[in-house]
Amino acid sequence: MKAFVTLDGVRKQWSPTVSVGPLSLEVARGEMVALLGPSGSGKTTVLRLLAGFEALDAGRIVVGGEDVTAVPPAKRRFGMVFQHYALFPHLDVGENVAFGLTARGAAAADQVRAKVAEALALVDLAGFERRRVYELSGGQQQRVALARALAPEPRVLLLDEPLSNLDPALRERTRRELRTLITRVGITSVFVTHEQEEAFDLGDRVAVLHDGRLEQAATPDELYEHPASLFVATFVGRANVVRGALAGALGARDGQIVVVRPERLRFADAGVPGVVRERRYTGAAAFYQVDTEPGDRLEVQAGPGAARVGERVYLEATGVMTFAEGGGGVRP
Ligand SMILES: Nc1ncnc2c1ncn2[C@@H]1O[C@H](COP(=O)(O)OP(=O)(O)OP(=O)(O)O)[C@@H](O)[C@H]1O
Ligand SMILES: [Mg+2]
Repeated sequence: MKAFVTLDGVRKQWSPTVSVGPLSLEVARGEMVALLGPSGSGKTTVLRLLAGFEALDAGRIVVGGEDVTAVPPAKRRFGMVFQHYALFPHLDVGENVAFGLTARGAAAADQVRAKVAEALALVDLAGFERRRVYELSGGQQQRVALARALAPEPRVLLLDEPLSNLDPALRERTRRELRTLITRVGITSVFVTHEQEEAFDLGDRVAVLHDGRLEQAATPDELYEHPASLFVATFVGRANVVRGALAGALGARDGQIVVVRPERLRFADAGVPGVVRERRYTGAAAFYQVDTEPGDRLEVQAGPGAARVGERVYLEATGVMTFAEGGGGVRP
């Protein structure tokens, strides 16, 4: 992969005890990378370092072969979209989108008008120039924010949880639109989210952050099938984490931790014995909580009529992942 954006050993020391990094990550031209991690893991910090809003304590940032570590934000030619889209309520849609253009003061009025129209057409809001911001739905406001970020033709688009204050139904639709749009524009982008589904849906690759460290950067398939650490295995997707006797019964060696996904367990004629304690049916799938004889409880995903509550069953694993205690992944 030829990198367009390179984070090279980037680190921010917020206080004697809190730091983010050092971390290294490469983003290819036209690629969309999702930064995924729990609250406080460092996602926004990485984005702000990229944008130049925060100074690095170590490392460097290279864009298109140019070291931009000391380049101020306005000169980096990055577009930003934030969680609270921060449109100016007293300006109309056209003035909002023109903001980054007029602020630079270089272009003539006609050129600005043309660029605004082009950016609005890009987000399917052609002709919305004179509309007031408060007349728009949340999804439309988000698209205006995107048009504003794209109008100055940035080299890289940075998005920090841009969908998180939309209601769930709208969020999913807006996510699709965002994906289509970013693909159409073909812009290199880095997208922050704490939701796995969003990261998987939008990211060509997903970079998982945990406590300021980059745990793994890989395609969604690779992350799910071959997590590099116990954290990634459990943060991404549903997972049973098993230690001790049950881990041994599932094939682990001494001291290893086994992670097995619910859909990788099935009811069989022989295997780990247990009793079904609960059944949860979501429509698309059924989940069974099984208390196993070796001890731990396992969640099994199976057909809606695969077992009854109270039934004695045997479980067979069709795929397990093993990890060293406190360490990284062990590939089978
Ligand atoms: N301006 C700041 N001053 C001091 N510490 C900060 C600052 N910004 C972030 N931090 C600390 O850095 C760590 C990472 O914070 P960051 O905001 O990057 O996390 P995040 O992954 O974006 O979390 P969230 O999902 O809650 O937005 C946290 O421990 C946070 O307290
Ligand atoms: Mg954040």
